[in-house]
Amino acid sequence: MQLSIVIPSFNERNNVRAIVDRIEGALQGIQLAYEIWFIDDSSDDTPRILAELASQNPHVNFHHRSAKSGLGTAVVEGFRRSKGEYIVVMDADLQHPPELIPEMVNQLREVSDVVIPSRFIAGGSDGGLNAFRKLVSWTARSIGRLAIKRLRKVTDCTGGFFGLRRQVVERADLNPVGWKILIEVLVKGSYQSVVEIPYAFLARNADESKMSLTEQWNYLRHIFKLLWSSAEDRRFVLYCLVGGLGVLVNLAAMSVLFYGFRIHAVAASVLASVIAMIHNFLWHDRVTWKEHRQAGWRKTLRMPVFVLISLSGIAVTALFVRLFEVLGLWELAGQCVGIVAATGWTFLANNRWTWPRSLQEMPDSACETGSSQVLYHTVQTTRERES
Ligand code: GDD
Ligand code: MN
Repeated sequence: MQLSIVIPSFNERNNVRAIVDRIEGALQGIQLAYEIWFIDDSSDDTPRILAELASQNPHVNFHHRSAKSGLGTAVVEGFRRSKGEYIVVMDADLQHPPELIPEMVNQLREVSDVVIPSRFIAGGSDGGLNAFRKLVSWTARSIGRLAIKRLRKVTDCTGGFFGLRRQVVERADLNPVGWKILIEVLVKGSYQSVVEIPYAFLARNADESKMSLTEQWNYLRHIFKLLWSSAEDRRFVLYCLVGGLGVLVNLAAMSVLFYGFRIHAVAASVLASVIAMIHNFLWHDRVTWKEHRQAGWRKTLRMPVFVLISLSGIAVTALFVRLFEVLGLWELAGQCVGIVAATGWTFLANNRWTWPRSLQEMPDSACETGSSQVLYHTVQTTRERES
């Protein structure tokens, strides 16, 4: 079997026949052994229609689950049951054009381990959503891309339409929470290249969208779970938490020194930052970068390098305090702005010079056992054939 098309369905009685027809049309004349797998959780008579379809058409298979166990797990079930060398996942409602499948298979054959039709690159469009859903969708994508490194270069990781070579998920332990199986695949799968091709997300044909507030909440839970399971993604969150705690320590110290001891603002700022610096070092060394523990002589360098980087951060912070003082603004506010600027710079610097990854180090977690060098590219023209 060369291609498996996995389709999660829930109460799509008016769509399943049409999508089979469209797929057959799209793959007509192409030498390709393929199967269609519906993983169905419907509570209406969709299973009856699927059974009928399966008896008439040897390409069609379906599995009905008696509980509505969610879109993500339905797709994982589809991976398990199907046999194809290539897998395409798409919705049942024709919002994802089946005419794109031949192009997706081409990409999988010749170019890339993962192929993602995207609404957000040149040639794509998002016409199938209303303005509110567009905003929600944009926010969701931005959160995902900000939080998780492996999603950063993918423009459309929430669309539910994608293709992959079976090896990508063969050994991955997939445990999606809710709908966004693609982010689970991108984080846990093993692959070397991802290609995005443009497509137009169309309006729904028939029946209703099953998207809900619960699913938005599930998405956030899912992102957080993935983020926490990857030491690399978790690191910046920890850095900010420690930094946040450090800010409190810093401001408390500054207040005591400036208001209590009436020390000059710049001197108070520098002292407060030194106190916060020591506090932060201890946390970062024991928690934030605990996987990057250095051995031998490199170990003794941590503290001096951290101090140097922090000094540069303190300089930045003090500069802001001085600026605010000159402008006749509140010195404590200057301290806050300075800290924010210093945080970004010092994270990058510390990650690189204070706690660099040691060479013999084992991967931090299962999430990072995939290749670290992933190639991302996009194809600019769609060879979508309109039927
Ligand atoms: N098996 C199964 N179980 N299938 C489900 C379930 C479930 O619990 N819930 C939904 N589905 C199926 C639907 O039948 C449909 O084929 C597909 O999953 C997507 O559901 P829709 O109801 O069509 O959702 P949508 O169109 O609002 O959302 C789609 O487009 C979004 C684009 O912004 C999905 O692809 C989203 O993942 C995507 O983000
Ligand atoms: Mn839909």
